[in-house]
Amino acid sequence: MTGIKVAILGFGTVGEGVYRTIQSHEDELTEVLGKKVEVAAILVKTAKKAREIHERVLVTTDFEEIIRLPKLDVVIEAIVGQEPSYTYLKRSIQRGCHIVTANKEMFAHHGKELIGLAEEHYVQVGFEATVAGGIPVIQTLRQLLKINRVSQIDGILNGTSNFILTEMREKKLAFGQSLRLAQEKGYAEANPVNDVEGFDAFYKAMILSRIAFGTEPSWQDVEREGITNITGDLMLAAEKLGLRFKHVASLRKDSHKIHGLVKPALVGNEHPFYHVEGVENAVNVHSDIVGRITLQGPGAGMFPTASAVIEDLVYVNQFHAADQASNRKPASFEVEEHDEAVGYWFIHGVSQASSLGLNVVWSDDDFAGIYIVKATKSEVGQLAQQESTMHYYAILGEIQWDSVKQRPSVVI
Ligand SMILES: NC(=O)c1ccc[n+]([C@@H]2O[C@H](COP(=O)([O-])OP(=O)(O)OC[C@H]3O[C@@H](n4cnc5c(N)ncnc54)[C@H](OP(=O)(O)O)[C@@H]3O)[C@@H](O)[C@H]2O)c1
Repeated sequence: MTGIKVAILGFGTVGEGVYRTIQSHEDELTEVLGKKVEVAAILVKTAKKAREIHERVLVTTDFEEIIRLPKLDVVIEAIVGQEPSYTYLKRSIQRGCHIVTANKEMFAHHGKELIGLAEEHYVQVGFEATVAGGIPVIQTLRQLLKINRVSQIDGILNGTSNFILTEMREKKLAFGQSLRLAQEKGYAEANPVNDVEGFDAFYKAMILSRIAFGTEPSWQDVEREGITNITGDLMLAAEKLGLRFKHVASLRKDSHKIHGLVKPALVGNEHPFYHVEGVENAVNVHSDIVGRITLQGPGAGMFPTASAVIEDLVYVNQFHAADQASNRKPASFEVEEHDEAVGYWFIHGVSQASSLGLNVVWSDDDFAGIYIVKATKSEVGQLAQQESTMHYYAILGEIQWDSVKQRPSVVI
């Protein structure tokens, strides 16, 4: 019986985790797939690094050696950046291989083309590991979307940012100190821009949007702000109000388009994101039949990410034409239009409350320049255009202020 021959591109945190999991879960994989999974080849960048890889596996720096293997069924990609990953995966599909990727930056830019090409070549694409690490959010959405209509998704999608915000609050550290700690623990890259400026969460949100809504917002219309403007003072003010800062990527469908937002927000104790701490990720999906569901779990790391890749390895090999429905574009549906909702906003960087011209529901002499206002998004947005130093963050959930200057109770 010939096995399923797999090549792994990249042998870093993810690639090695996948390799080791294929060995450790050999029996389960054989039972589920009816064939043994064999890693035939591994692509790396540096030939000289010492690696624990069985001698019968081809380890090479030359992709040509891999694409020319006499038998190759699945190519798993765990490299960093758009190229050469995109080119390698295109060629793998053209050769007739299923592909599985963990590379969100590449997939946000080229996922659509890869899926189109895979359809032409009757192969499948797995990309569960591109969003929220080990949390099975893509498969859950695929399952939900068979009948449910998804109207909104909110997610804590970047574990590094969540770790930094958690450390700042718990240990009263400055942003720079928390970032250094994240780097020491291996959660943040030497160049952390992708994480702390919200690019990573943005890429993941665009991938989610394509699955949930069949399309994505126009990239330039998505407001993207990272966590670098969150100071210790803002944290303390939020804490006094019983609120926590979280970096949230949101997608919302209305009748005309998909709205995307990647930005810090505040949540109260009753919100499911309040207790999502450290490098954890979480995703809230709002849909018409089931209502709101929350998935939470490890957003990164060797084995959580390997788990998502291995689930995809099974998915692409077990895919039958009858499953095609789970890959179809979600049906379009009309969304009931409401007047723009009034919400609560945490504002800072405005010198005078009187200059706000908005309904201020909280201020505190200990926190000069920080206010909570009740307004629509357009109202705070217009104000921010006039006040160049102003930042504003949504307070998620339905909030009932007992009275001004008192801790709010938050109702989801
Ligand atoms: N780390 C996580 O927890 C996680 C979670 C979800 C998704 N991801 C995504 O998964 C991908 C891999 O992440 P990682 O953390 O495993 O990265 P990593 O530890 O830096 O490993 C990258 C691997 O790719 C190899 N590589 C880099 N450029 C290459 C090239 N041009 N040709 C051949 N091999 C090349 C490197 O080879 P050498 O070993 O020779 O240097 C290394 O083995 C990224 O796209 C990342 O965004 C990571």
